[in-house]
Amino acid sequence: MADLFEVPAGLIMKVHSTQIEVLVSSQTEDNPYDVHEKADLNTGLYCETVMAQRDELHVPNALEDIEWKDNPDVKLQMISYLGVPLIWPNNQIFGTICVLDNKTRHYASLYHALLWQFKEIVDGDLKLLVSERKQEQHAKDLAIALDRLKATQEELIQSEKMAALGHLVAGIAHEINTPLGAIRSSVGHIAHFIDQDLKRLLVFFHSLSEPRQQDFLALLQQAASRNTNLSTRDKRKLKKALTLQLQERAIENAASIAEHLAKIGIYDDIEAFLPLLKAPDCLAILEIGYQLAIVQKSTRSISLASDRAAKTIFALKNFARFDSSGEKISADITEGIETVLTLYQNQLKQGVDVIRHYASLPPLLCYPDELNQVWTNLVHNALYAMTNKGTLTIEVAEQDNQVLVCITDSGAGIPDNIQQKIFEAFFTTKPPGEGSGLGLDIVQKIIKKHEGAIRVESEPGQTTFTVSLPITR
Ligand SMILES: Nc1ncnc2c1ncn2[C@@H]1O[C@H](COP(=O)(O)OP(=O)(O)O)[C@@H](O)[C@H]1O
Ligand SMILES: [Mg+2]
Repeated sequence: MADLFEVPAGLIMKVHSTQIEVLVSSQTEDNPYDVHEKADLNTGLYCETVMAQRDELHVPNALEDIEWKDNPDVKLQMISYLGVPLIWPNNQIFGTICVLDNKTRHYASLYHALLWQFKEIVDGDLKLLVSERKQEQHAKDLAIALDRLKATQEELIQSEKMAALGHLVAGIAHEINTPLGAIRSSVGHIAHFIDQDLKRLLVFFHSLSEPRQQDFLALLQQAASRNTNLSTRDKRKLKKALTLQLQERAIENAASIAEHLAKIGIYDDIEAFLPLLKAPDCLAILEIGYQLAIVQKSTRSISLASDRAAKTIFALKNFARFDSSGEKISADITEGIETVLTLYQNQLKQGVDVIRHYASLPPLLCYPDELNQVWTNLVHNALYAMTNKGTLTIEVAEQDNQVLVCITDSGAGIPDNIQQKIFEAFFTTKPPGEGSGLGLDIVQKIIKKHEGAIRVESEPGQTTFTVSLPITR
């Protein structure tokens, strides 16, 4: 521009609150202005007038102009000036574009037009700059919104998980309380035995001859190894047969002895104990045997009950674990399903037959915590559809490099016209307070995160949700 105008200085100036800055300065000789140099406003600069009037200013020679002879640029020998304003797209002043010279200049109209053309170009650039900035801001806003959305989604998943756990709490409390109750009563039996019967046992044991002592121990051993899960009817039948056996062997009191033996859990194979059964104090012996059998049984139930409580606690811990690492880990799919089934044990035992078909699969790289939530939601929906009565079939198989998990319930089914909608967030057919409509939406999101798929097939009495997960080991 400076070359075209044959001037030492061609400038683009940018205005700030109290100063004006040289933004672009021509690389010409004798140019006294450096880039980024600033001059104070309200000092009578040429550019100030251009900006105030938003119009062109032409001063051919400031020294001959009373209004301009003392302006700051004159001190730099810049006595001639031609400048026009630069305007932001929002109509605010950006600054000026101008040419200055150290000699008198009367520019022909062509030069005036030329300067205006330069101005148009710079104004156009400003417009572009603004729209680019807007787009940048737009992109930033979008990224922030997306982040927020993701966080909300995570929160949603977390809160649904907690809600599911909330629904389960009553059942789980029961699952822990029941074994605790069993333990408490068993401990009571043992304590009672130690307090009341131990001394009697010792005295009694001493009173037995050596071979009878052996018989007695054998009797206890046989009692301990017996199946105790007989129905009352079976027990009655066995007792009758036992009474007959005893009578055949000419044992007195056959009926009461059979009764006592049955209490201990012995219904047959009595040959070994015949001498003991023929002893005159036989009933007393059996009574003490019975007390001991109770102690034996109590220790067995303590062990079973604590296993059961431990299993529930383990499932709970597994379920509520927070995978904060955000990385996939290698986990057993069926283990996750079993965790969920353990937590639903209380509902299941109210009348649900669970049928398992598990293919043995190697561990899968996945987010096990989130998959647990998938099984929870699907099992929860299935139990709800069956009102806790029916058959729940869970199949785990491998097919075409995918793990397939099919969860089938024998509930009422999903009407055709809503099958499309069930995966939508907030779609629910359950009464308020019982369903959020988020279950399947979350299930779908978690499965997408695993690059898997879910589909549903339903007819009255048979609804199957099939989850497929790609195997990436
Ligand atoms: N196993 C199923 N049997 C019948 N209907 C089902 C089953 N699973 C889901 N549905 C239907 O899909 C709807 C949405 O399920 P979901 O997203 O888990 O939300 P919610 O369980 O809170 O209603 C349920 O309200 C129900 O109508
Ligand atoms: Mg649900």
